[in-house]
Amino acid sequence: MTLSLSAGRPELGALDVPLLVIALPSGAKVDGPLTALDATLGGALSRTIDRRDFRAGRDESLHLSGAATGPKRVLLLGLGKPTDRSASIRRAGALAARQGAKMGVGELAFYAGTLDAAEVEAAAVGLAAGAWEYTDTKTPPPAEERRAPLATARILADDDASLKSGIATGSAIAEGHGLARTLGMMPGNLCTPDFLAETGRDIARRHGMNVTVLGRAEMEQLGMGSFLSVAQGTPQDPKLIALEYNGGASGAAPVVLVGKGLCFDSGGISIKPAQGMEWMKFDMCGAAGVLGAMEAIGRLGLKVNVVGLVGSTTNMPSGTAVKPGDVVQSMSGKFIEIINTDAEGRLVLADVLAYARRYKPAAVVDAATLTGACVIALGHTATGVMGNNADLVLEVIKAGTRAGEPGWELPMWDDFKELIKSDVADVKNSGGRPAGTITAALFLKEFADEYPWVHLDVAGTAYTESDLGTVPRGPTGVPVGTFVEVVRGRAG
Ligand code: BES
Ligand code: MN
Ligand code: ZN
Repeated sequence: MTLSLSAGRPELGALDVPLLVIALPSGAKVDGPLTALDATLGGALSRTIDRRDFRAGRDESLHLSGAATGPKRVLLLGLGKPTDRSASIRRAGALAARQGAKMGVGELAFYAGTLDAAEVEAAAVGLAAGAWEYTDTKTPPPAEERRAPLATARILADDDASLKSGIATGSAIAEGHGLARTLGMMPGNLCTPDFLAETGRDIARRHGMNVTVLGRAEMEQLGMGSFLSVAQGTPQDPKLIALEYNGGASGAAPVVLVGKGLCFDSGGISIKPAQGMEWMKFDMCGAAGVLGAMEAIGRLGLKVNVVGLVGSTTNMPSGTAVKPGDVVQSMSGKFIEIINTDAEGRLVLADVLAYARRYKPAAVVDAATLTGACVIALGHTATGVMGNNADLVLEVIKAGTRAGEPGWELPMWDDFKELIKSDVADVKNSGGRPAGTITAALFLKEFADEYPWVHLDVAGTAYTESDLGTVPRGPTGVPVGTFVEVVRGRAG
C-alpha cells in the first residue's frame, strides 16, 4: 500500500490526529505554531525543551502523550544542526513514518516549521520511504492482532503553493522509489527478467512511452555475444528492455539511463561462496533504479526525452554456462576474454551500452551493483562515480547530492588499463582484486565511447544488510533519486 500524502495548516494545538510529529533543529524554541500545541499539552513541550530532556540532536526522538484534546500522541524528532535542510527533513520524514508504522497509528501529521516547495517534497519523499514495506510474501497476522498500517500522512505548513507542488512532485518520486524497492525486495524466483519486462511494459502503457523488449533470438541477431554469454547458463529468456519517454522537443538528443538487471548472480562457473549468496537477488537494483526513475519521470511529466535501458538475466552455473578462458564478441565488435564468470554485470552492460549508441544520446548514465570492491572502498555511504566526461561526472554527483544519494568520484587513469589487457582478446573482463571498481568501469568505457557517459557503482548503496534507522534491511531506493535529478536538471 502506498502512503497517501495530504496538506494541512499548522494549527498544532487543535489537530485531531493519532500522531503529530514535530521535527526541530537543535536550539529551537517554542514559538509560532508550537505555542498553541504547548498550551494544549499544558506546557509539557516547553518544559521538555527547557529541562533539555529533548535537545533536538540528529535522529534524537522523544515521545509525549497527548492531552484530552488535540493530537493523541506527539513525537519530537531532532534535525541536529542541518547543513542541508531538505536532506534532514527527508531523513526526519522517514524516521517519522517508520515510527508511525510501528505504533500502528494509521495516520500522522508532520510539522517541521516553514517549508518551501523543495522541503515539502523532501518531507513527502521521506515519509513515503519510511512507510514503505514489502509484505507480498508474508501471511498477515490474525485480524485481532493486526495494527493499522500507516495509510496517510499530512504535511503541515502555511504556504499552500509550496505544499501543493511539493506533495505532487514528492509523491511522484516516492512512487518511483517504492517501485524500485519492491522490485529489489522481490525474491529472484518472482522478480525474473520476464517480470522486469512486464513491469517495463506496464510503465510504458500508463505513461504513453514506447517499449521494446528483446529476447535471446533478437539479441543473437544483433550480435550481442557478450550479454548472451552470461545468459547461456540459464533456460530463462534474457531481456533487453527499452523504454522511450518523449517529453522533450521531437528529435532532441535523449538522456539514456542504463541499469544492470541480474535477477540473481550465483557467480556462474566461478561460483560464489554459499554464505550470503541470497543477497545476490539484489543484483538487479540498477535495473530497478531505471524502472523506478522512468515511473517517476512519467508521473512528473518532465519536458525532456529520456530512454531507459535494462539488461536482465540470471548468472547460473550449468553445462551450457560460459567458462573462464572463453572469448566472446560484443555487439561493438570487440573481443572479450572471460577470466571470471562472476564479473558478469560488465558483460551484460557492454552490449547494452553499445546498443545505446543508436539513440545518439546527449548523456548516458548507468547504474550497477557492479563490484564488491566498491563496498570496500566507499562502504554503504557513497556510490562510486566514474565517467568519460568531467562535466557530466560533476552534474551527476550534484544531482545525487540533491537527492540525498551521495556519490564520490574514483580516478579513471589509463594506467589502470594495464590490468585488463588480455593475451588473446581486446580486453579481459577481470583485472583481479586491485582497483576492482575502477577496472570494471574502464571495461565499460570501452563500450561507452560515442557519448558522454557516467557509471554509478551502487553495490554498497542500493541495498543494506543492516538497519540504517531510516531504512530497514533491504533496498534503499538508490539510484532512483539521482536518475530523476539528472533528468530534471536537464528538463526544459
Ligand atoms: N554483483 C557482483 C558485485 C557485488 C558484490 C555487488 C557484493 C554487491 C555486493 C558482481 O557481479 C561481482 O560478482 N563482481 C565481482 C567481480 C570480480 C570477479 C572481478 C566481485 O566484486 O567480486
Ligand atoms: Mn558477479
Ligand atoms: Zn553481479
